[in-house]
Amino acid sequence: MSATPLAAGTLPAGLVWDADRGRLKVRDPRLAEIVLRDQHIITGVDHGKSGRAGELPPPGQAPTITQFFEMWYTVGEHYPVFNSELRKAFTPRTVHAFGAAFRAEADRLVAGMPSRGDLARDYLSPYLTHSTFLLLGVPEREWTRLAKVSRLVIHLFKQQLLGVTEYGERERAAFATTMLYLKRLTDELLAGPGTEPFLVAARQLATVDPGNWPIAALIGQLLMAGIEPMIVGSSIACREIWSSPHLRESILRETVDTGELAEEVLRQHPPFGNIFRFVSEPCDCLGVRLPLGTIVAVDTAAVNLSHHPAADPARGCPVRPSELLTFGKGTHYCLGAHSARLQVATGLRQLVHGAPELAVDVAAVRIDTSNNLKEVRAIPYRIGSGDAG
Ligand code: HEM
Repeated sequence: MSATPLAAGTLPAGLVWDADRGRLKVRDPRLAEIVLRDQHIITGVDHGKSGRAGELPPPGQAPTITQFFEMWYTVGEHYPVFNSELRKAFTPRTVHAFGAAFRAEADRLVAGMPSRGDLARDYLSPYLTHSTFLLLGVPEREWTRLAKVSRLVIHLFKQQLLGVTEYGERERAAFATTMLYLKRLTDELLAGPGTEPFLVAARQLATVDPGNWPIAALIGQLLMAGIEPMIVGSSIACREIWSSPHLRESILRETVDTGELAEEVLRQHPPFGNIFRFVSEPCDCLGVRLPLGTIVAVDTAAVNLSHHPAADPARGCPVRPSELLTFGKGTHYCLGAHSARLQVATGLRQLVHGAPELAVDVAAVRIDTSNNLKEVRAIPYRIGSGDAG
């Protein structure tokens, strides 16, 4: 239930009450900073205070869809220990060590692209999925099956955001099969020889709770949290690169670092339109009384662009990463920000260099902005004349 609407005329500058959606919009960087660090304004349902213990499925059985989402570490009681251990596996230095592997995978996929098709389906999606698997230490023989897990979890998560809580028999059965596979794979990864930093952290975290379900849920969560926004971000960057020939030239001639170019594109067009919070205790921290339960939506693009208007991405990003909201800010700052930046930059660079004849049909690109995470509908391309495809 949304809280009592906040009276429009009385709001401080930078706050807007969105009556249609029943939420308080925050467009000012200073207020956004307060929201994202405030103790009274939280990321989701406050499980700790509701007294509901996180339940694990009985031995040999899969969790229900609802149970699976409740096992996610970001909403669980063990968040602090998971957060500090996982951050060690996602430092700039750690992810940098995967640069050569990301490049090799991107090159392999570019070389195998049909001469016409959809860029998200034929290249961006497999590249960003596989590079994430490399980071998580998943052996190649599991990639096809794990990619299916990833697609199902993303689908169900989107359904959940749309308010769907009832699932059909077939969907529940498919979910149970998928979960039992994910659990078996998790058990194998934890017991196996892999030395990737994520697996080292995961083995440590597996000692926190009995059984490996929290780690299976963690893998599911990371696949969901990371792959889709990277596909969206790279697709937006491709649309911009192929809309402005000088951007493609600047990558080909290496007059700009592709990561810097992508940073500026994503500053202007962040994959997540808003960062959401909920008022868990009435407070005055934003200069106005916020009732319990108020939904707060921080407008990512408005905050990103408030001090520096949109610039030419061929000149890189004029703003320091710490001033951006593209990857959030504060305690919940994106766990995968460094890897996402490297994965996206590597994917774009290898595509531009590896397929110089590739053209995106910019007029036919469809990126839907109606949901909070933008959605790629179509990004048609052809290589050369495109006849052979
Ligand atoms: C371009 C790609 C990405 C974008 C734009 C993005 C954006 C964000 C944003 C805005 C937040 C903050 C949410 C909040 O404060 O409520 C966040 C959190 C998070 N992201 Fe990302 N993300 C991306 C890629 C990734 C990747 C690759 C991973 C996987 C490792 C990942 C994992 C997470 C996790 C686990 C959190 C929650 C962190 C916490 O609560 O402590 N993200 N992301």
